[in-house]
Amino acid sequence: MGRTSTVLASALTPRRTSSITSFYCKIVYFTAILTDKNSLHLLIVVDCCFIITMPDTLTKLAYQTVQQGKSYFGLVHKAVSTQLLNIVAPAPAETKPKPTPLSLELIQNIQRRMNEILETDWQDVEKGVYPASLLFDNPWDDFFRYYPAVWFDMPEMWQRVNQKRYQEFDPGVETQGLPSYYVQNFHHQTNGYLSDESANLYDLQVEILFNGTADPMRRRILAPLKAGLKAFGDVPASQIKILDVACGTGRTLKNIRGMLPKASLYGVDLSAAYLRKANQLLSQVPGTLPQLVQGNGEELPFLENYFHAVTSVFLFHELPPQARQNVIDEAFRVVKPGGTFIICDSIQMADSPELSIAMENFPEIFHEPYYRHYTTDDLTKRLTDAGFTEVFEQVHFMSKYLIAKKPIEARPEAPSFATGIAID
Ligand SMILES: C[S@@+](CC[C@H](N)C(=O)[O-])C[C@H]1O[C@@H](n2cnc3c(N)ncnc32)[C@H](O)[C@@H]1O
Repeated sequence: MGRTSTVLASALTPRRTSSITSFYCKIVYFTAILTDKNSLHLLIVVDCCFIITMPDTLTKLAYQTVQQGKSYFGLVHKAVSTQLLNIVAPAPAETKPKPTPLSLELIQNIQRRMNEILETDWQDVEKGVYPASLLFDNPWDDFFRYYPAVWFDMPEMWQRVNQKRYQEFDPGVETQGLPSYYVQNFHHQTNGYLSDESANLYDLQVEILFNGTADPMRRRILAPLKAGLKAFGDVPASQIKILDVACGTGRTLKNIRGMLPKASLYGVDLSAAYLRKANQLLSQVPGTLPQLVQGNGEELPFLENYFHAVTSVFLFHELPPQARQNVIDEAFRVVKPGGTFIICDSIQMADSPELSIAMENFPEIFHEPYYRHYTTDDLTKRLTDAGFTEVFEQVHFMSKYLIAKKPIEARPEAPSFATGIAID
């Protein structure tokens, strides 16, 4: 007598044609009949495919609904935690943050900008810049797993906030050898960027902070990235190399992977814990695993003229001025002539003066020691000082984008291998 065991695997993959999104469901049955001696006797594979077709309008509605839900969730979380803080651990008057209340007009402005970025996100899908699946790529399992920990972490965090303790780390956390500007409890995070617990909570905290728009903001680098890579149209897709500086938990790399399934991706970050988290996320994605390297953006461990494009998301506001210049200089060094460097970071005073109150409030509430200087720093000048040309700026919701080209004529006579280690 044989026994039968059945394994069922399924996948739900959205695919778009001109006006519909098809959710392609694949169900595979592996049927193995085991003999009495438990040796494999027969294996049958049946492969069925279903196509669920959703008109674009429904897909868009689904996206807007999920985003709206995330937005309400972020607002409620912030309102409840602020109330609780005032009741459970009221700050002494002298240390209490004093953010300026936002006017109704300003709140409406922020809401309008949020709707606009979601519309742009959708438009980029419509234009075929990236697949609709990216819009629905939410780390729900992490959310359910770690959301309680966000609350459990609060009492300790409130104590640090009230006592203005901004550089506090558990005894086991290794801070030696890291730049002093980095050894901070950025956003009041327990252990800053230097523990696995912090890495587990980070994406959730950023989603709450931005009411669910962190990925839509990250995705605004994708269209200019794709456009910039056209300069290398003769290079096979698998030989295109892209580096994300300060890749953190890997969400930007995951979005890039969604748009460019074959490209060789690299990420560098100072935090081993965040790289471990990035590795967890990215190793679930089919295709070549991005190469993740622990290192300082100010001294990139790569050869010059190595990458077709370099990106950096939400790093620059956390750097002191000279470090900002050093990272830009390094990006210039490692990107190929004709390649593109794209920065995504907070809006600045010059591009969004109407949101100056929100920018002034941010470092008042969160520990962001370099943010104030960042908001008036001339990043275009820094980029051109480094040698970049054709610097374009864009603003979406609460973030700005600088898209810069390394001129072709910057190509050296002979390749130099003076700095960095080869990754090939
Ligand atoms: C606000 S997080 C942004 C992470 C990620 N890019 C994202 O989109 O969420 C800042 C990241 O920059 C990293 N970082 C800060 N200074 C760095 C430096 N000098 N070199 C490399 N990484 C750095 C931190 O470890 C952290 O992962």
